[in-house]
Amino acid sequence: MWCVSVSCILLALGLVERSRGNGLTELDTEFSLRLFQTLTETENNSNLIMSPVSVSQSLRLLQLGARGHTLAQLQGTLGYDINDAHVQEAMSQPQRNLSNSTQGIRLQFINTLFIQSGIKLLPAFTQHALGWYNSSLQSVNFSQINNTQLQQGAADKDLDEVVSGDPGEGVSWGSSAPHMALLSSVVFQGAWQKQFLFSETQNLPFTLSDGRTVKVPMMYQSTEVNFGQFRLPSDHRYTILELPYLDRSLSLLVILPSDRKTPLSQLESQLTGHAVALWDTGLRRKKMDVFLPRFKMHTRVDLKPVLQSLGISDAFNPSAANFSGISDTDGLYISEAFHEASMEVTEDGTRAAAATAMVLLKRSRAPIFKADRPFLFILRHINRGSVLFMGRVMNPAQQGH
Ligand SMILES: *[C@@H]1O[C@H](CO)[C@@H](O)[C@H](O)[C@H]1NC(C)=O
Ligand SMILES: *[C@@H]1O[C@H](CO)[C@@H](O)[C@H](O)[C@H]1NC(C)=O
Ligand SMILES: *[C@@H]1O[C@H](CO)[C@@H](O)[C@H](O)[C@H]1NC(C)=O
Ligand SMILES: *[C@@H]1O[C@H](CO)[C@@H](O)[C@H](O)[C@H]1NC(C)=O
Ligand SMILES: *[C@@H]1O[C@H](CO)[C@@H](O)[C@H](O)[C@H]1NC(C)=O
Ligand SMILES: *[C@@H]1O[C@H](CO)[C@@H](O)[C@H](O)[C@H]1NC(C)=O
Ligand SMILES: *[C@@H]1O[C@H](CO)[C@@H](O)[C@H](O)[C@H]1NC(C)=O
Repeated sequence: MWCVSVSCILLALGLVERSRGNGLTELDTEFSLRLFQTLTETENNSNLIMSPVSVSQSLRLLQLGARGHTLAQLQGTLGYDINDAHVQEAMSQPQRNLSNSTQGIRLQFINTLFIQSGIKLLPAFTQHALGWYNSSLQSVNFSQINNTQLQQGAADKDLDEVVSGDPGEGVSWGSSAPHMALLSSVVFQGAWQKQFLFSETQNLPFTLSDGRTVKVPMMYQSTEVNFGQFRLPSDHRYTILELPYLDRSLSLLVILPSDRKTPLSQLESQLTGHAVALWDTGLRRKKMDVFLPRFKMHTRVDLKPVLQSLGISDAFNPSAANFSGISDTDGLYISEAFHEASMEVTEDGTRAAAATAMVLLKRSRAPIFKADRPFLFILRHINRGSVLFMGRVMNPAQQGH
C-alpha cells in the first residue's frame, strides 16, 4: 500500500535525524532491550545470553541489500537507515576499538550470510558487504546441507566464500526457491580490572525463581564499584553494580531487583532504553562487599520468530521479500536466522580453573551487594554505552542451552 510505504519512509527519515551522534547508541539500546524482551517471552525460565550488537550488525548487512518494504521494516526495527552517512561513520568507530584484543580482552564477532550457490550477486553489494566489519558471504547449496551444518558453517570448507558472483544461467536450486540464511555469532572473554580471588569463592545458596535454593560457587571481593539504586515505573526498586574489565573499555553491569520478592520478570518487562541511558548519572563510586556467582553461558537462538515479532517479516517471506540490492534473482528471501553467544564470568574473568579452597571470609564492614537470586547482566562499552551482551542468570549452576 502506497500510503503505508510513504509513512514508513517519513518515519525512517525522522529517525535518521534523531540517530545522529549519541542518539544512535540510544536507538541501539532500545533495540537491544526489545530484542531481549522478545526473547524472554519465548525462552521462559532459562539462563539466557545474547549479543544485540552482533544481531544488529547482521541486520545492517541485510539492510544494505534490502529494498522497498523489506528495507522499511528493517529500518523501522533498528531505528535507523544504514545508508545514512552519519550512521555509517558512527558505526565504524566502536567496531574498530572493539576489535582490539590486547589487554586481556577477546571479543570475536562473526556474521555470515549464506547464499544459495549459483545466485549472481550484484558487485556493489559484494564490495560493500566484504568491506563490512567481519561479515562474510558464503555460497552454499541448501539442498545439500542441513541447519546443523549451517550453524557450524562459518568455518566449513565445503562452503565457498563468494568473491564475485558466478553467472547463474540455467542453474537449478534443488527443491526450494533461491534463499539465504543468516548466522551471527560472538564470543567474549575478558579479565577483570580487579580479579576475584579463587581462595575467597565459597559455595553459597542461590534462591531460584520458584523459591528453591541451590548451592553455587559465589565469588567475593571487597572493592570500589559503581553502584546505584533505581525505580521501575511500577515503583519496584532495583540495584545496579558495575564491574570494569581490565582495559576499562568494557564493564559488566549486574542488575538485581532490590527486594527479594520482586520477580526478575518485572525488571525484564519494564526496562527501557531511556532508563538505561540515565543509569550513568545515578551510579556512584562506593566501596562494597561484592558477591557474584561464577557462571558460564552459551545460548543458540532461532532469530526468525524473534525478528518476525519485532516487525521484520517480509525478509522471511518468499513472496514479499525484496533483496534486489543483493541480486537480480527473483524471489530471494531469508529462510533461517540464527544467533549464538557465549560468555564466562569467573574469578580472573577469563576461565574457571583451580579447585575452590574454602576459607572463612574476612569481610570488611562495607555495604553488601549479593547476587544470590536471579539477575540481569549487561556487558557494555563504557564510553559509548553500547550493549555488547545482555542476558539473565536464573540458575548459575546451569550453562544456558
Ligand atoms: C513458560 O512458563 C509457563 C509457566 O511457568 C509454562 O507453563 C510454559 O510451558 C513455559 N513455556 C516454555 C516455552 O518453556
Ligand atoms: C523492490 O523495491 C524496489 C525499490 O522500491 C522496486 O523498484 C522493485 O520493483 C521491488 N522489487 C520487487 C520484486 O518487489
Ligand atoms: C578508539 O580508538 C581510537 C584510535 O584507535 C582512539 O583514539 C579512541 O580514543 C578510542 N576510543 C575509545 C572509546 O576507546
Ligand atoms: C589496542 O590497544 C593498545 C593499548 O591500548 C594500543 O596500543 C593499540 O594501538 C590498540 N590496537 C588497535 C588495533 O587499535
Ligand atoms: C573475524 O572472524 C575471524 C574468523 O572468521 C576471527 O578469527 C576473528 O577473530 C574475527 N575478528 C573479530 C574482530 O571479531
Ligand atoms: C544443489 O544440489 C542439488 C542436489 O544435489 C542439485 O540437483 C543442484 O543442481 C545443486 N544446485 C547447484 C546450484 O549447485
Ligand atoms: C546434518 O548433517 C550432518 C552431516 O551430514 C549429520 O551428521 C547430521 O546428523 C545432520 N543433522 C540433521 C538434523 O539432519
